[in-house]
Amino acid sequence: MSVSHDRDVIQGPIQGGPPATMVERVTEFAGPDLHDLCDAAEAAISDGGGFGWLKSPPRHVMETYWKGVLLVPERDLFVARLDRTVAGSAQLVRPPRYNEAQATVGQLTTSFIAPWARGHGLARMVVQEVEDAARAAGLRVLNLDVRETQEAAIKLYETMGYRRWGTHPHYALIEGKWRTGLYFCKDLGDEAPAVA
Ligand SMILES: CC(C)(COP(=O)(O)OP(=O)(O)OC[C@H]1O[C@@H](n2cnc3c(N)ncnc32)[C@H](O)[C@@H]1OP(=O)(O)O)[C@@H](O)C(=O)NCCC(=O)NCCS
Repeated sequence: MSVSHDRDVIQGPIQGGPPATMVERVTEFAGPDLHDLCDAAEAAISDGGGFGWLKSPPRHVMETYWKGVLLVPERDLFVARLDRTVAGSAQLVRPPRYNEAQATVGQLTTSFIAPWARGHGLARMVVQEVEDAARAAGLRVLNLDVRETQEAAIKLYETMGYRRWGTHPHYALIEGKWRTGLYFCKDLGDEAPAVA
């Protein structure tokens, strides 16, 4: 049986044990990661929680989108892996350079975990990783917004210290009906390093 290099260096789950979970920042796509990310996003979109997309775009559009994310200087892409396979992601959006007044305010966006990978703590790990990266980048506040129907996400953010400060009744138009959105923020604390 041939064994890939990856399997030599990355230990998988113990047989019968919990799956291996991991979160990392991605600066380029390697191996099957881009395809797995597209698969995960399509699964989340089909399930009704596709960070804006209501139905999956053609695969080449989805691939172009993710490649484009890596090219945006203010965006950091984080992926979650379940047993090495990319199963979800989130992005940290840092303010543009001209925005001095909000130089320490960032956004956590496009967060999702594929349905088949949920319930293993990956979303919590992703948010934690985004927060750590935000602090390291000198950010002091993270903002995010979510549809009011996304109950799992709301529970996650509330349990991680996000404070709900606003409600927008015309947040998203889905199948001809306005959906309400909720706005959250989190003070990342005073441990953020000074911005150069
Ligand atoms: C929200 C979402 C990211 C959670 O992913 P996940 O990996 O299953 O979440 P975790 O396993 O890390 O769970 C973390 C916490 O989220 C909350 N949570 C997760 N699933 C939940 C559910 N079905 N019902 C209620 N709360 C839930 C819980 O507080 C949980 O903590 P606990 O396990 O200690 O109770 C996932 O359900 C998803 O992608 N949903 C659709 C897209 C979406 O809503 N994205 C966020 C928009 S900003």
